[in-house]
Amino acid sequence: MAKMWAGRFQKETDAVVNDFNSSIMFDSRMFREDIEGSLAHAAMLARQGIISEEDHAQIHEGLQHILASLEAGKADLSPEKYEDIHMAVEQLLTERIGDAGKRLHTARSRNDQVAVDMRMYTRREIGSIRTLTLAFMRVLVRKAKENLHTVMPGYTHLQRAQPITFAHHLMAYCCMLRRDVTRLEDCLARMDECPLGSGALAGTTYPIDRAYTAQALGFAAPMENSLDGVSDRDYCIELCAALSVLMMHLSRLSEEVVAWCSWEFKFVELDDAYATGSSIMPQKKNPDVCELIRGKTGRVYGSLTALLTQMKGLPLAYNKDMQEDKEAVFDAVDTVKMCLRVFAPMFETMTVLPENMKRAAYRGFINATDCADYLTKKGVPFRDAYKAAGTLVARCIELDTTLDALPFEEYKVVSDMFAEDVYQAIDLAACVAGRCSPGGPAPEEVRRQIEMMERFVEHEA
Ligand code: ARG
Repeated sequence: MAKMWAGRFQKETDAVVNDFNSSIMFDSRMFREDIEGSLAHAAMLARQGIISEEDHAQIHEGLQHILASLEAGKADLSPEKYEDIHMAVEQLLTERIGDAGKRLHTARSRNDQVAVDMRMYTRREIGSIRTLTLAFMRVLVRKAKENLHTVMPGYTHLQRAQPITFAHHLMAYCCMLRRDVTRLEDCLARMDECPLGSGALAGTTYPIDRAYTAQALGFAAPMENSLDGVSDRDYCIELCAALSVLMMHLSRLSEEVVAWCSWEFKFVELDDAYATGSSIMPQKKNPDVCELIRGKTGRVYGSLTALLTQMKGLPLAYNKDMQEDKEAVFDAVDTVKMCLRVFAPMFETMTVLPENMKRAAYRGFINATDCADYLTKKGVPFRDAYKAAGTLVARCIELDTTLDALPFEEYKVVSDMFAEDVYQAIDLAACVAGRCSPGGPAPEEVRRQIEMMERFVEHEA
C-alpha cells in the first residue's frame, strides 16, 4: 500500500519497519476523537474561506459515514493498510469523496491532530474514572453507615493499638479517594487547552481560527505556543501519576481485605461470587480480586515510569518516541477502570463479622490506655497509672484472660484507687465513644465525617 507521504520516496517501506512504525493497532481506539477533531477543523476551514462550503459539506457527510461504519466495526483497520488512525480516517474519506477528502488536511499536521485526539480521549477517560471512584466512595460510605458501632482494633506496626470502629477505618479510605477525585479534576483543569492549529510545530500561514476549534471541541482556550502544543505530554504524566496514587490506595485496602479474610483475622467473609477456590485444597476461598488489584498497581506505576522516561531529554518539538505515550496511558486507564469496577461490588457484598472484630479488640488489650486514664482521672500520676495498667495486662496474659474479664480483686491488688466502675471505663464501646475529638472514631464524630462525605459525593455527581 503506497503511503500518503510516498511522494519523495523511491521504494516502499520495509515490511518489518512498517509493523514497527504503525500505531493503528492501538490508536484506533481514538477514532471518535479523531473524527470529532476533523469535523471541527473542516468547519473552521470553511468558515475562514480556506475550503469551499461544498467541500466542507462533502467532508462532513463523509466523516459521519466513516464514524458510523467504525462504530459498527465494519472498516478494516489493519496495519498493512494504514499506519495510524489519522491516516486511516483520511484515506477512507478520500476513497469515499475524492478530492474534497484531500483538502481536509490543509493547515493541519498529524502532530497537532494526534495531540488533540489524545487530549480528548484522556479528558473523556478522566471523567469515567472519576465517576467510578465516586461510585466506590458511595459503597464505602454505605458500609460505614452500617458499621458506626462495629468496634475493631486499630493498628500500628500491625499490632493491636487502640479501639476504633470499622466505619472509622472505611472513612479513612474515603478521605484518600476524595483526594484522588480532586487530583483527577486538577489534571483535567490544567489540560483544558486545545493544541489544534499548532500545525507540525510552527503554526501555519493560513488564516485559521484556533479559538473557534478550541471552543467547538469543548476546550477552554487554544494552547499558547505551537511548539508546546505538539510536544506537551505533561497531562499524560499527570494522569498516570494521579492513577498511580489511586491504585496505591486501592492496593492498601486490598491488602487489608486479604488479611481480614484470613483465618488469623476473620473480620470479613467475601461473597462466593467474588472469591476463588484452589485446584487442590478444598478448604480454600481465596481473595484473588484483591491480590490482582495489589499486583496491577505495579502495571500502573510502570506506565508512569515509562512516560517519564520516554519524555526525559526529548528535544522540541515532535519526536516519534511520543507515539509510545498511548499504550502507557491506555493500559493505565483500562487497568484502573477494571479494578474499580470489580472492587466496588466485591466490597459491597462482603460480610462483616463484628463479633470477631470485637474479640480481637478485647484480646489485644487495646483498652489498656483507657484503664490507665481511669486512674489518672482519679488523681494518680499518669506514669504510675501506666505502670499499674501494664501490671494488669501482664496478669491477664498469665491468666489467659482480658482486662474486662479480670476479677475485681486483681485490680485491687494493683491499686486501691480502682472501684467497680472501672469495668464501664474499659468497656470498648465506651472507649470508642470517648474518643470524640475531631476526626476520632466516636460514632457521633464518624457520623459527621460521613455526612460531609455524602455532601461531597452528591455535589460531585
Ligand atoms: N501515530 C503518530 C503518534 O502517535 C502520529 C503522529 C505522527 N507524526 C509524525 N510526524 N510522524 O505519535
